[in-house]
Amino acid sequence: MRDNTHFGFREVPLGEKQALVDDVFHKVAQRYDLMNDLMSAGLHRAWKDALVTAINPPKSEREFTLLDVAGGTGDISFRTIAAGGPGTRATVADINADMLGVGHERAYAQALDDVVTFVDANAEALPFPDKSFDAVSIAFGIRNVPRIDVALKEMHRVLRLGGRFLCLEFSNVDVPGLDALYELYSFNVVPALGRVVAGDAEPYRYLVESIRRFPRPNAFADMMRAAGFARVSHRVMSGGIVALHSGWRL
Ligand SMILES: C[S@@+](CC[C@H](N)C(=O)[O-])C[C@H]1O[C@@H](n2cnc3c(N)ncnc32)[C@H](O)[C@@H]1O
Repeated sequence: MRDNTHFGFREVPLGEKQALVDDVFHKVAQRYDLMNDLMSAGLHRAWKDALVTAINPPKSEREFTLLDVAGGTGDISFRTIAAGGPGTRATVADINADMLGVGHERAYAQALDDVVTFVDANAEALPFPDKSFDAVSIAFGIRNVPRIDVALKEMHRVLRLGGRFLCLEFSNVDVPGLDALYELYSFNVVPALGRVVAGDAEPYRYLVESIRRFPRPNAFADMMRAAGFARVSHRVMSGGIVALHSGWRL
């Protein structure tokens, strides 16, 4: 029997999901940063700031390396470099050359291409040695990966002992009133914005549907523990729109 998974609300063979996801990010890459601001009304900036605060790069000259998996256009890496001292370095690993290309142009434009490195890589098979990064992050990426359990094990493998893993992901709104509003916004406004700004509603419909299918925070915490992470915790932000998950390699 073939293993199935979900691509948004559609059930698809596990082996086909990645190509469908790649097509989505191929289509949205050029407008990705603008759409993030529009879709979240700028809120993604505050969520990402919370993630970078938790990554906590040293302000000193001490060397500190971040691996940002599914890092796309490099937002988390640029923010970490801005927050850290001169010893901070970031590596963006993403499977999509279009997203990486936009990120690389941003790095070049800001003269940051010596401190932010872009690597074409699948989260399920990271091309890095064991225990090679001080911190590993993934923001709004894990729900797109077909084999989440495999990716979590990989992110645990490349994290040094004593290092922290952080995952920012959409969650479940459970504030009465806000939930209905959020539902309406997600399924109507977001695809419409996609059509007007990026010329195609379909990729944004996928993004919204994939949010709904992602495991609840406690179920995801169990997956993190199964991958080897210790002291697993999470906190929700903005009424449950997103959750910041944390785990350590001990
Ligand atoms: C919603 S974007 C998030 C980008 C960035 N982390 C941010 O917060 O702006 C999701 C990213 O996951 C990447 N992705 C999807 N599947 C992947 C995989 N198997 N391995 C690595 N990256 C993947 C996509 O190419 C895309 O750039």
